[in-house]
Amino acid sequence: MLDYRIGFKSSETEHSQMNLVIAGKIPAWLRGDLLRNGPAKFILGTYQVNHWFDGFSMLHRFSFIDEKVNYCCKLLESSALKQAIKKQKLCSEGFASNPGYNFLPRILNFSTRPSDNDNVNIGIFENTSLAMSEGITQLQFDPVNLKTIGQFIYHDKIRGSLTTAHPHYDHQKKEVYNFTIQIGPNCFYNLYRWKVGADKRDLICKIPAKNPGYLHSFGITNQYVILIEQPFILNKLEFLFLNLPYIKNYLWDPSLGACFTVINRFSGEIVLREYTDSFFTFHHVNAYEINEKEILCDVITFKDSSIIDAFYLNNIEKLNIPMSQFRRFHIKLNERMINIQPLSSHSLEFPQINYQEFNSKPYKILYSVSYPNESTFFNQLIKTNLESGIEKIWAEDGCYPGEPVFVPNMPFSEEEGVVLSIILDTKNGCSYLLILNAKSFTEVARAFLPHMIPFGLHGIFNFK
Ligand code: CO
Repeated sequence: MLDYRIGFKSSETEHSQMNLVIAGKIPAWLRGDLLRNGPAKFILGTYQVNHWFDGFSMLHRFSFIDEKVNYCCKLLESSALKQAIKKQKLCSEGFASNPGYNFLPRILNFSTRPSDNDNVNIGIFENTSLAMSEGITQLQFDPVNLKTIGQFIYHDKIRGSLTTAHPHYDHQKKEVYNFTIQIGPNCFYNLYRWKVGADKRDLICKIPAKNPGYLHSFGITNQYVILIEQPFILNKLEFLFLNLPYIKNYLWDPSLGACFTVINRFSGEIVLREYTDSFFTFHHVNAYEINEKEILCDVITFKDSSIIDAFYLNNIEKLNIPMSQFRRFHIKLNERMINIQPLSSHSLEFPQINYQEFNSKPYKILYSVSYPNESTFFNQLIKTNLESGIEKIWAEDGCYPGEPVFVPNMPFSEEEGVVLSIILDTKNGCSYLLILNAKSFTEVARAFLPHMIPFGLHGIFNFK
């Protein structure tokens, strides 16, 4: 009997342009491409990487046109992958895997770190499509045939070894916001704005950090950027001088608490720096201002950083995924206070909203995956209505859904449209693409894949 563990196995067959068998009826209005990224190749010869997040990236494209779904997938041709295939072993440092001890001190080894295996997310910024991870090297690819074009280079002096795979995109102004994390004797979070198509990025603000916290995402409102420095902190000397895998340089120290920094996104001025009790987070959900001096910042939180340990491949035999809490941080700038309120009784992850129209704005609908206890992998899709508190669930025996992506059918709607999610069906060892009616949260159709797609991370819908 197969179970969730097959989702952590290599599946590296590439496909070009195949029409998928459909059950149900694909809505005629649905036109565009669902692009997905995630770890897919875990084995090199006799070597296996250590962690889910270390699998080599596979890009997937589901193209919707005329009620059909056309599929292709291709390994991201990072220099990390090319070297690894040539030598049949890991040659560059990943998230939690490294090629072994290197006598050269870190400081003399100029290769980027972590490597360019950008397996976390995809950004479509007008004509620029990027595969992204926490490594500073972003790889550009062709969104039609998924071929890797090469490293995307900004011609500026903004430094950094790390970044986030969750930049924010202001679709109206066509501006991307993100951080780099600069590590050296003095460390900084560098907040930048990139006007899409421009040669250079603009540095908005440089925030000094004694020991930078692990940063996966951040919040943005009309006026502000919200940086949460969590107490999972980088040992910069280890990072600079030892050859540990990237995440092994971080230490959980709950005595530090979590620090909220609110930055004016235009002037770069820091308007608030306040602490809450400690927590760990990967994902901000949304943030917005309710008036000039109050901000709501919604985040998926964990009590500590142990979720990273849960996904070492040695640990997935016996899952121990800490339960998450979806929480609202009510930031009062004048009173310098942060009040905290839970928003769901379920444990959620991979949160998605109607990003293009509701990010930085009041919203009421969240789509995510959820899990009932520590020993079960994400096995439900859930729709949370923040106004009514009503939650709707989709689940099927032996099935494990990936991040749900909402595709609207009309402007400014959070639930008129469909939700797309790749489902791993362990009953037959294959995956399918599920299409749910977003309003009723019931199945509209599914498109069957000829193979299993390992558990993925993030993706995006690109309208046509
Ligand atoms: Co993420």
